[in-house]
Amino acid sequence: MRKIHAAISGVYGYVPDYILTNQELETMVDTNDEWIRTRTGINERRILKGKEMGVSEIGVKVINGLLEKTNTSPDEIDLVICATVTGDMVFPDTANIVCDKVGIKNAFSFDINAACSGFLFAFTTGAQFITSGMCKKVIVLGMDKMSSIIDYEDRATCVIFGDGGGAVLLEPNEEEVGFIDAELKSNGVGRHYLHMKAGGSFKPASIETITAKEHYVYQDGKPVFKHAVRGMSSTLKTVMQRNNLSSENVHWVVPHQANMRIITAVANAADFPMEKVMVNIHKYGNTTAGTLPLCLWEWEPRLNKGDNILLTAFGGGFTWGTVYLKWAY
Ligand code: UT7
Repeated sequence: MRKIHAAISGVYGYVPDYILTNQELETMVDTNDEWIRTRTGINERRILKGKEMGVSEIGVKVINGLLEKTNTSPDEIDLVICATVTGDMVFPDTANIVCDKVGIKNAFSFDINAACSGFLFAFTTGAQFITSGMCKKVIVLGMDKMSSIIDYEDRATCVIFGDGGGAVLLEPNEEEVGFIDAELKSNGVGRHYLHMKAGGSFKPASIETITAKEHYVYQDGKPVFKHAVRGMSSTLKTVMQRNNLSSENVHWVVPHQANMRIITAVANAADFPMEKVMVNIHKYGNTTAGTLPLCLWEWEPRLNKGDNILLTAFGGGFTWGTVYLKWAY
């Protein structure tokens, strides 16, 4: 019997219409276009505007687009996994809410919180449900509405993040394509450098936490930067060695889009020319769990069956890792 792989049979992405440019940010905080472009590589990012527009609205657009494109009925979906740190509510999981909104009724669904590595963790989890034979059609969604937890008076964070996301449909495949391998890591010591202080059980919301601006992203950028380069590069190399991959036989590297300088450092460390590295950070900034599926969605027309693709990410937790897949169509 041939081995069953979990293969991507479709990808879809969505970014909100509103474009927040570096020039507009210049009018909001003490920053400038030149600093943002040279230190991060970002020119603009998308923002989901409107009252009571939770991240599930991005999920609805993504899943409806994915179902239509892959000619799949909502009834056929067995499982939906949503990677996000900006769920509509603390509970229930946003995956549950999105399923209700798009009419997915026969699936079980849950969220995964691994911050910027969320899509890698969710994708690897979803793949296990396919290879075990438990599910036939799994949607893995990665998305964030970072604007809901960003302090637009804090120049250290507000220039970096944006809103958006994407999803893939996973199905069983016996042609040696799809999910092949993953190296995933976490270390809670990283919580000190990247977190949101209040709103959880540790420090529930209060007048004091709101006044102290503790419901926004806190990031100590420098250590995060160093750990990101180290973590992505080392897992990339581990996965490459384990699977006899080199910069020649890998077709694409899909790095988390956190900072252009991190992306180039990781590409250099693993000896990849930038032509093989997907980059769209200039347009969307860091959409946290959304960056990897947004890249796959944008590059889909250029991908070929059998292409070796490495996805790599680093984020809050700390969490990090690399996934190796072969493109299936
Ligand atoms: O996706 C999850 C993981 N997150 C990441 O991977 C992010 C990793 N970290 C980074 O990408 C970078 O550390 C940042 C982009 C966040 C910051 O870049 P940096 O080169 O580490 O800058 P810095 O924080 O060391 O600040 C350098 C200078 C400071 O001024 P002084 O003290 O040298 O006078 C900052 O106050 O740049 C200043 N600065 C700014 N200036 C203009 C910080 N933010 C800004 C800004 N505009 N937006």
